[in-house]
Amino acid sequence: MSKILVTGGAGFIGSNFVRLLLAQRRHSVVNLDKLTYAGNLENLKDVESDPRYAFVKADIADRPAMERVFAEHRPEVVVHLAAESHVDRSVLDASAFVLTNVLGTQVLLDVARQHGVQRFVHVSTDEVYGSLGATGKFSETTPLAPNSPYSSSKAGSDLLVRAAFHTHHFPAIITRCSNNYGPYQFPEKLIPLMIANALEGKKLPVYGDGRNVRDWIYVTDHCEAIALVMEKGRDGEVYNIGGDAERENLHVVRTILKLLGRGEDLIQYVKDRPGHDRRYAIDHTKIAGELGWRPRHDFETALARTVEWYVQNRPWWERVRSGAYRTYYETQYGGRLKGG
Ligand code: NAD
Ligand code: TYD
Repeated sequence: MSKILVTGGAGFIGSNFVRLLLAQRRHSVVNLDKLTYAGNLENLKDVESDPRYAFVKADIADRPAMERVFAEHRPEVVVHLAAESHVDRSVLDASAFVLTNVLGTQVLLDVARQHGVQRFVHVSTDEVYGSLGATGKFSETTPLAPNSPYSSSKAGSDLLVRAAFHTHHFPAIITRCSNNYGPYQFPEKLIPLMIANALEGKKLPVYGDGRNVRDWIYVTDHCEAIALVMEKGRDGEVYNIGGDAERENLHVVRTILKLLGRGEDLIQYVKDRPGHDRRYAIDHTKIAGELGWRPRHDFETALARTVEWYVQNRPWWERVRSGAYRTYYETQYGGRLKGG
């Protein structure tokens, strides 16, 4: 059994990953999260009383805070998911992306190395490879060509992780995954935004012609891949993770409307995102061959399950939209935690 420090565990993928670790492994987990707008401890309500789980509120770019957390908790493994993650926000202001994704990752690498961490999994994105034309897929050897401030800051962090391995022999691994969907995704990303808007009878804003393609993966498939890489991956390697589910945005939006019994009149074409990447597609033969991983969920079935989750868990996203979720940390944890 190991002690695993998960950064960004209060976010979408992080909370699903923490839940998977506690349910399927014997490890103990320290969830380190700054609780930005994207961090929501209500995502982990069901596990917060588990004795193997602890939460620390801290910023990965704050070196003294990281030194305190590592000295106190002494993690053997770090799984690094904390990041600013939304492309549209990075177009408006890139500064938090550079601070957290670039500087924060370097601080974490330094402190983890000083404390003799045995494995560091850096969770990155296929967006670092840039945009594809009509054919082809991203492999681990595709040159990095990020186009947005978000993907550029993630590419910067990937290169710093690579440098820590080559320069200091630090045992780090990088994963690059395609677009995730599933429970607890912040309703600013395509799928939860469209579901919530449709449920409220609001317009569904489709950027440009709606023909951009993403390779969708159900979040638990991604989390299983991260856990496998953490346990069996090779130091210094990159592993691509994808869902084998390329779909145009318009197809995704129409399917959501159909699942909810709403009409296509709710679709509203809006001005395109500046620098909007056209197509992403992942070749995941490396992780399949080396670690025996493959996505388990088929897109249409898992999307229907996701839509049902947002229908059943309306209070969760209504509290996010109203901002009420921001009070949960204070009321539930206030005064009981160090490092806040
Ligand atoms: P998210 O925005 O839902 O969650 C990010 C979490 O990081 C939040 O809980 C936030 O509070 C925390 N955080 C932000 N800045 C921090 C800081 N300075 N210190 C500590 N915590 C901080 O993101 P997500 O969609 O769950 O993505 C998680 C990771 O996976 C990111 O690194 C992202 O780049 C990567 N990724 C995401 C996708 C996707 O489709 N969502 C795909 C591939 C890779
Ligand atoms: P998003 O969920 O922001 O993920 P990413 O940009 O990281 O791939 O967007 C997914 C796709 O959906 C992308 O092509 C942009 C598009 N999109 C819309 O058309 N409307 C929206 O309101 C949003 C948020 C995204």
